[in-house]
Amino acid sequence: MLLPLAWRAAARRLSRDLPRACGCSAQGPSPRGYSRGASGKGLVLGIYSSEKDEGAAQFTSAGDAFDRLVSGKLRELLSLCGPPLKKGKTRVFHGLHQDFPSVVVVGLGKKNAGINDQENWNEGKENIRAAVAVGCRQLQDLEIPCIEVDPCGDAQAAAEGAVLGLHEYNELKQKKKPVVTPQLHGSAGSEAWQKGVTYAEGQNLARYLMEAPANHITPIKFAEHIEQKLRSFSNVKVHIRPESWIATQQMGAFLSVAKGSAEPPIFLEIHYSGGANTNDSPLVFVGKGVTFDSGGISLKPSSGMDAMRADMGGAATICSAIVTAAALNLPLNIIGLAPLCENMPSGKANKPGDVVRAKNGKTIQVDNTDAEGRLLLADALCYAHDFNARAIVNAATLTGAMDVALGSAATGVFTNSSWLWTHLYEASIVTGDRVWRMPLFEHYTKQVTDCPLADLSNIGKYSRAGGACTAAAFLKEFVTAPHWAHLDIAGVMSNKDEVPYLRKGMAGRPTRTLVEFATRLSQDSHSTK
Ligand code: BES
Ligand code: ZN
Ligand code: ZN
Repeated sequence: MLLPLAWRAAARRLSRDLPRACGCSAQGPSPRGYSRGASGKGLVLGIYSSEKDEGAAQFTSAGDAFDRLVSGKLRELLSLCGPPLKKGKTRVFHGLHQDFPSVVVVGLGKKNAGINDQENWNEGKENIRAAVAVGCRQLQDLEIPCIEVDPCGDAQAAAEGAVLGLHEYNELKQKKKPVVTPQLHGSAGSEAWQKGVTYAEGQNLARYLMEAPANHITPIKFAEHIEQKLRSFSNVKVHIRPESWIATQQMGAFLSVAKGSAEPPIFLEIHYSGGANTNDSPLVFVGKGVTFDSGGISLKPSSGMDAMRADMGGAATICSAIVTAAALNLPLNIIGLAPLCENMPSGKANKPGDVVRAKNGKTIQVDNTDAEGRLLLADALCYAHDFNARAIVNAATLTGAMDVALGSAATGVFTNSSWLWTHLYEASIVTGDRVWRMPLFEHYTKQVTDCPLADLSNIGKYSRAGGACTAAAFLKEFVTAPHWAHLDIAGVMSNKDEVPYLRKGMAGRPTRTLVEFATRLSQDSHSTK
């Protein structure tokens, strides 16, 4: 908003006498013609709404300190501007302080917001993420390259809001949005801030890989990108397994999908040894890595097919979670397995009715070539059993039916382990990237094992009914481990405007929940019950 002239003059007079607080070097006039001063930083400050509708809004401690620095002018200006700011609403002030020529104040909602057990998340953290994202974007729109952010009492959530909120895929456009670097305002909570930045950068890596076009992120390019991210860690080994290795592993189900494409498949295998002992049982992550899913001979409709460049979201989120775990130096061992290929129609592609043999010897009738994810995962899950895992967790954009069931509210979790469920669920309350438990009933198993030519059909016999559940029941046929969870992430693959701190596009969910889960597992070193 524009300030009255008298206020602007007063603010300028005031700012001449105030000490400098930071050392950002950006200069130049702001878009509205106010001088940015020597530093040119923007500042995002939170403000709580009052308990009673009419009551005065309450600053955070950073807001209070800044208001004292400008002799109470911020509070006065805010009250002149109208009623207290509602959650997620902002006001911008220019020229209040020479070190912060532009200040955005953003509504945080109620001060005492915490865990909401109807919503299954920490509302206070979600409010901070959303508010900080809005504030940072507003300053980005003003082309302010350097932003300080109020920790709002939870520096990790604030950092996540800033780094997730500013992310955008603009690699291939000549005209790019200005790069903005958010920093913590003040010194309180710098460790938590850094952790939040690392968590958010992890999710942004998954978003980047998912958003990128399929001709840029092919199986080999995906593997090389992850390898490059992990190159600096001496306790990480990356194996990029070629087609010949996949064949010697007798991964016939995976290969049957891959052979329809001109692009060679890759089996990506990552070993992160952060545990006290390199032979401590690892957490094994498995991710579906279909870099483009056309449906194959059971071709998908052309409208919206481009979104299937993100059908490697399972691989992207698990690999990004491992990159993040390495950056955080988490004290546990993690193995990541990502079968990567394209699903294309061609003279070599799977045909409906074909029968293929998975690594564990089970035969599968491919009744629909578009149900390809479970074929890749069947072999990868068999291989996952070679590592004496503490837990096996797979993520996959597996079924449109998952999106129908839960939409983008939560990842569907199918698990044979209540211990594993509890850890995933508790992690998701903290991250706000929620999970919801789904059934693994025998009821669904019968619908995939009743098959004319093979041990299993790759679709349920009642076709669309319970599609996410029959897919999970199919995967269960390749699992003997006592602690396994399948995360169907098809519904959370992309964001329109549901998650306020993510822009429209591929969402990289639930990377932060996987990281938080791994963190909790590393603190719970012996219990698996
Ligand atoms: N990759 C899709 C699932 C998907 C759909 C992910 C929408 C994200 C958004 C998967 O390979 C697929 O096509 N599944 C079929 C299974 C069906 C043929 C039994 C589906 O969901 O329609
Ligand atoms: Zn498919
Ligand atoms: Zn798919």
